[in-house]
Amino acid sequence: MSASLSSTRDHLSMSEQAASERSALGVDIGGSGIKAAPVDLASGQLLTRRERIPTPEPSTPAAVGEIVAELARRFEWTGPIGCTFPAVIKRGVALSAANVDKSWIGTDVDAVMSAATGCAVTVMNDADAAGVAEMRWGAGRGEEGLVIMITLGTGIGSALFIDGILVPNTELGHLEIRGKDAEARASANAREDRKLSWHEWAEDVDEYLRHVEHLLSPDLFIIGGGVSTKADRFVPRLTVTARVVPAAMGNDAGIAGAAHLARNG
Ligand code: BGC
Repeated sequence: MSASLSSTRDHLSMSEQAASERSALGVDIGGSGIKAAPVDLASGQLLTRRERIPTPEPSTPAAVGEIVAELARRFEWTGPIGCTFPAVIKRGVALSAANVDKSWIGTDVDAVMSAATGCAVTVMNDADAAGVAEMRWGAGRGEEGLVIMITLGTGIGSALFIDGILVPNTELGHLEIRGKDAEARASANAREDRKLSWHEWAEDVDEYLRHVEHLLSPDLFIIGGGVSTKADRFVPRLTVTARVVPAAMGNDAGIAGAAHLARNG
């Protein structure tokens, strides 16, 4: 039996989905993998373990749409789907494509995903989705003032909140630091590509966060992405004035935030 068939045993049946108005399927499209799980919207918890399929190369609309459709099939999903995308998204349309195939620029991502899955799909920027989940259920819960979530992954994503309200599509990962795109210096991929120690990379992250702080004076930085689980290796070295905390929801934040916005966006 294939892995996908055996894993559907853990998944919700269609009648269970219909009974649960308070759930949505969250899909997180990343540079290396596309992950999905149904989410309980009261708690932000995943209702089953998540499924992951590697991001296709090239990551064209048709190829990515087919993977999202396959993930929806694995959960036998027919309800609303929230889907993250690593780009500026306005009214469902991608306006940039830093770490995905350039053919996405100008593509109606909502329409591509809805056609591929046959479900109502709401698409949003990946860092915005992760930030929404952290503010609702994670490290930003109850935080007022200016909160900036920075995700350090393949690229750098940002989500900015004023008294809990999201200002979408901020794209602070593309600020210029000493003549270079910030994500080329301080993303998690930049650390690996440049073979930096945690100590060396912390200096680049610090320089970047100090630049963001100089421009926006946030009250709190939340650091997300896979490196949030290794926060002890670099957060103590940061010298910004604002408080800095690691994200609390790990790799599930994007899925949970996307699911929330599918029902409430
Ligand atoms: C993109 C952002 C995205 C971030 C994290 C950046 O390169 O421009 O839209 O949020 O990567 O994936």
